[in-house]
Amino acid sequence: MLFEIMTLFPGMFESYLAESVLSRAIERKRIEVRLHNIRDWAENKHHKVDASPYGGGPGMVLKVDCVVPCVEEVRKNGKESGRLLMLTPQGKRFNQHDVEGLAQEKRILLLCGRYEGFDERISQILQPEEISIGDYVLNGGEVAAMAVMDAVIRLIPGVLGDEFSSSLDSFSRGNRFLEGPQYTRPREYRGLEVPEVLLEGNHGKISLWRAEMSVERTRKRRPDLLDS
Ligand SMILES: C[S@@+](CC[C@H](N)C(=O)[O-])C[C@H]1O[C@@H](n2cnc3c(N)ncnc32)[C@H](O)[C@@H]1O
Repeated sequence: MLFEIMTLFPGMFESYLAESVLSRAIERKRIEVRLHNIRDWAENKHHKVDASPYGGGPGMVLKVDCVVPCVEEVRKNGKESGRLLMLTPQGKRFNQHDVEGLAQEKRILLLCGRYEGFDERISQILQPEEISIGDYVLNGGEVAAMAVMDAVIRLIPGVLGDEFSSSLDSFSRGNRFLEGPQYTRPREYRGLEVPEVLLEGNHGKISLWRAEMSVERTRKRRPDLLDS
């Protein structure tokens, strides 16, 4: 899968891509990540990518005449047209169902905003899918783009060590339940014991216990998931 990231701060991705699951996925050629600096498409003398908003108001707005040429050029330099996602707090709230859809794609383009956000004409021209990672405002789209990538990459075959680990995750494959509690060594810590059922080796009983815990935890922590 190819990720094309359009950002004003490509350096922010370097350590993220160089560590753990991401670096292994790149090494094994499961994914490729290309970074594009939007500033390279700013044709004005000082490479300015933002300007103050018409009508007044605080902050700066990302300019249409550098973002649109950037995305258009990146988009046409690929075999697959791919899915273009614009990161914005005003977008559709991103969830695991979206992640599963994106994991089927060959090419995903992620457009990161900054400052007070995008000139409205950028959306009108490019018609991206507008994605929000939650009801709060970040300084820029880079962290949101990493969150999207991180979630999608988990579902690409061969990326995680254990093929089953992502299928058991909370929210996975239409699963309306949170994953239940997990334990590992030591068996006892500060008086807290691992539940006996997990030590007995009866896999039928363990599955049943896990299912019950998962329902119980969802009812307590996220009853909204059960209502939906
Ligand atoms: C400071 S925010 C701009 C917020 C904008 N003024 C508004 O109220 O909608 C700058 C950039 O961060 C990114 N961003 C901020 N919060 C986000 C969120 N919850 N999900 C996705 N991207 C976000 C977007 O790319 C946005 O253009």
